[in-house]
Amino acid sequence: MDHSQLLSVFKSRFQSSPRIFRSPGRINIIGEHTDYNDGFVLPAGVDREIVMVIGSNNSDQFNVYSLDEGEEVSFTLNDYTSVSNGWAQYIIGIIDQLKKAGHTVPGIDCVFGGDIPIGAGMSSSAALECATLYGLNELFGFDLDKQAIALMSQKAENEYVGVNCGIMDQFASVFSEEKKAIRLDCRDLSYELFDLDLKDYQLVLVDSMVKHSLASSEYNVRRAECEEGVALLNGKYPNVTSLRDATITQLESVKEGMKPKVYKRCNYMINEISRVTKATEAMNKHDLKELGRLLYETHEGLQHEFEVSCEELDFLVNFTKNREEVLGARMMGGGFGGCSINLIKTSMIEVFSAEIQNAYKKEFGKESSIYMVNSANGTSEIIQS
Ligand code: GLA
Repeated sequence: MDHSQLLSVFKSRFQSSPRIFRSPGRINIIGEHTDYNDGFVLPAGVDREIVMVIGSNNSDQFNVYSLDEGEEVSFTLNDYTSVSNGWAQYIIGIIDQLKKAGHTVPGIDCVFGGDIPIGAGMSSSAALECATLYGLNELFGFDLDKQAIALMSQKAENEYVGVNCGIMDQFASVFSEEKKAIRLDCRDLSYELFDLDLKDYQLVLVDSMVKHSLASSEYNVRRAECEEGVALLNGKYPNVTSLRDATITQLESVKEGMKPKVYKRCNYMINEISRVTKATEAMNKHDLKELGRLLYETHEGLQHEFEVSCEELDFLVNFTKNREEVLGARMMGGGFGGCSINLIKTSMIEVFSAEIQNAYKKEFGKESSIYMVNSANGTSEIIQS
């Protein structure tokens, strides 16, 4: 993203001398809702990002201006809880974490903006958290490494914003690398980079433009349902401490005593965790057909078992099913709106885009957006020339 406008707005509002930091949004190829079940995920950072221009102002005041919202908030370490602007909570959540960890955070001036669509399931919030923490760490030398930045950003979202999210988004934003996807083991945070070489195919997002307003409350409910399943399984199988440890056979053996809803959530989850492994095997063999088939399977599970899809996303996925140029598609991210991710033959993207957008408009009377995304490097400083 071009940062010259952010820099000139900063200079027109503030006197301090700034540095510039960025953090990308992400896609996730497969492994949805698996992160908080100790499973695997397969995200990649993308070339849409949050950019923050930050200067230390040698005071106790934090002055933060959102270019996209056209709003400024000012606060100190003693009164930040009274700020009510939604977008500011992610930044304050980070400052709150630093304070809790015993760091002294000096005042800053900041102007930020971005080109990650909000509410589209591409993790604009994680990018904002990670860019903030990375920037403050560089400016004030808190000595946090990349993993600490990802973990502390997740905690800010859990504790301050109130979304009980897993580690995928923040980890992807910090650790991503160009031309790579990250297979992350969310249990021990070990990871492996996979070549994102899709030959004649490309990953394309179709944004339903349905904003996932239900997402945070229902998200927390799903997490609690998975935990309920684990508690039951653990009663019979003490070594099962997360759904990562459970097998379908074990799940079947406790089905009787389980709420049908909880059973469905667990069934999806156990299968999804193993689908990530199957997907990486398919990628290693350059078997894109198999990868596509797995994407469709994931959508089925998210739609009928985990129940985090919506009518619009189901339509977008169904539309692709009898089209030769599409190998697979599914809803992506937390759900209840946002984007579908589609594996499409590159030469057919233009035709496909026009047709799916027309069909969507005809069905729902509203527009959708197409995002062509390229993989990108993780959180970094932009050095000014
Ligand atoms: C959101 C959360 C992630 C992850 C996904 C679903 O993006 O922030 O931690 O759980 O949903 O895979």
